[in-house]
Amino acid sequence: MNDLTTVVETARAAFELAHTPAELENSKALFLGKSGRITEMMKGLAALSVEEKKSRGAAINLAKQGIEAALTARRQALADNELQAQLQAEALDVTLPGRQRGTGGLHPVSLTLERIEAIFGSMGFEVAQGPEIESDWFNFTALNTPEDHPARSMHDTFYVEGGSEQAPNLLRTHTSPMQIRHAVQHVKKHRAAAADSTAEGALFSGAMPEIRVIAPGRTYRVDSDATHSPMFHQCEGLWVGENVSFKDLKFVFTDFCRTFFENPDLVLRFRPSFFPFTEPSAEIDIQFPSGPLAGRWLEVAGSGQVHPNVIRNMGLDPERYIGFAFGMGPDRLTMLRYGVNDLRLFFDGDIRFLSQFR
Ligand code: DAH
Repeated sequence: MNDLTTVVETARAAFELAHTPAELENSKALFLGKSGRITEMMKGLAALSVEEKKSRGAAINLAKQGIEAALTARRQALADNELQAQLQAEALDVTLPGRQRGTGGLHPVSLTLERIEAIFGSMGFEVAQGPEIESDWFNFTALNTPEDHPARSMHDTFYVEGGSEQAPNLLRTHTSPMQIRHAVQHVKKHRAAAADSTAEGALFSGAMPEIRVIAPGRTYRVDSDATHSPMFHQCEGLWVGENVSFKDLKFVFTDFCRTFFENPDLVLRFRPSFFPFTEPSAEIDIQFPSGPLAGRWLEVAGSGQVHPNVIRNMGLDPERYIGFAFGMGPDRLTMLRYGVNDLRLFFDGDIRFLSQFR
């Protein structure tokens, strides 16, 4: 082995020891740099004769080419290694199971509200929505509820700052104000269509289509235990026409309950009661003929024939128009339908509970 072969082999070995591009460039400088081995050898040529220069020069060039080839090979090898490492690090296991997106579902009370709307819809009832911040007039006064009624006490109702005669000043305690709101709109619309000549503000006694509406929504009372929540749901019902009677109320509500609970043998009881806005009034109880609740009377709604004062506040002449109303608790209906015994579960937002209704 002459000195040139040794230099090439030394360089190749040094390049093999370099594990990063930076290390490799440092090694390169030792052989090909300004004061590297090959450069030094070139300088040595100066002392030789012309003949010797030729052959020695050619030999050094060969050695230089050998070193450059080794350098290129090592550069390529390092680049390949780097690519391999990167591919390894970013490897995708396409056989892993995918991440599933959770599927949501309707809240059980929403399911009940949809069901109520579908059943009453099939009986020709419209669905109306109204404000949750209500005025004293719609929530109490228009519904024939006297100034000294206990429901108006600060302890029973959430009042809102401000409030005047007609301004909203409380969270509605029931959906019954929608009776008035909806009926007033209905009368206004049909009074115009009927080209009614009676004075503005006078009670309407012309002909109009019947009012048949339900109004589901949130309601509020200062109440909290296993069966009461400060926020709860109600669904109001109203049917006003010229010839609507208590018999119709019994038929409609019985049909509704039997359809809702999918039980044609469900028994209903209309228990005499009192509400300021109905006369006569009844509480509606249901009884399941079989199952865990069999034999117990369960209250599901208040109801009655709309009081003439309320008919008047709707803008209608009570000599011509009569009707019935009811107010039920969708939360209660949901508890009964699914066998849930604590109302608070509906409003805790616990996914483990809610996902059972998907
Ligand atoms: N608004 C009553 C309540 O919250 C329920 C009710 C009773 C509604 C009788 C009615 C009705 O429409 O006629 O307790």
